[in-house]
Amino acid sequence: AGVPAPAPAPAAAPALHPKLQSVAFMLGTWRGEGEGGFPTIKSFKYGEEIKLWHVGKPVIAYTQKTWKAASGEPMHAESGYFRPTSDGSIEAVIAQSTGLAEVQKGTYDSAKQSLELRSSLVGNASKVVEIKRMFHVEGDELAYTVEMGTQTHELQPHLRAVLKKV
Ligand code: HEM
Repeated sequence: AGVPAPAPAPAAAPALHPKLQSVAFMLGTWRGEGEGGFPTIKSFKYGEEIKLWHVGKPVIAYTQKTWKAASGEPMHAESGYFRPTSDGSIEAVIAQSTGLAEVQKGTYDSAKQSLELRSSLVGNASKVVEIKRMFHVEGDELAYTVEMGTQTHELQPHLRAVLKKV
């Protein structure tokens, strides 16, 4: 008595929301390697896993983690949501393990299986003023680049990676 019955578990495999049809190429678990650099830092190599999934709503959930290629030691991680609209535009909110928060806006192209986003807001950052993210899916590969602009350096590449669907 007094203990409420547990809520029912969510459906295991909900149907894809129609609004996600045109960006469904992004969905899945992706794993691979990337490299990073910037004029102010030493370049580095990393391993990465990205998960993009849905629960039947018109939103893609996103989580990412990275690790040092040589040792497996954890590096940067982030997570958020991608919200496409039916007119080819898309927005994302992303929270980074460094405390930085992004609001991204851009466009997708279902035929090219590509996605391009630029920050409309970067919050709680000490150096970063803008972030550009580009994704491209071809076959079982997801490739992306991240460019950033800082208080001292204009928008230029920080990361690029190629991941395979697992
Ligand atoms: C350095 C931002 C993602 C690894 C930096 C710096 C900034 C930055 C501002 C310092 C640059 C300077 O001192 O002039 C970002 C942003 C990211 C991102 C905005 C995502 C949008 C990542 C990821 C990794 C990573 C995914 C690892 C896989 C590093 C490393 C350094 C660095 C190793 C140099 C060492 C350090 O200063 O800690 N990043 N970063 N970053 N970043 Fe990122």
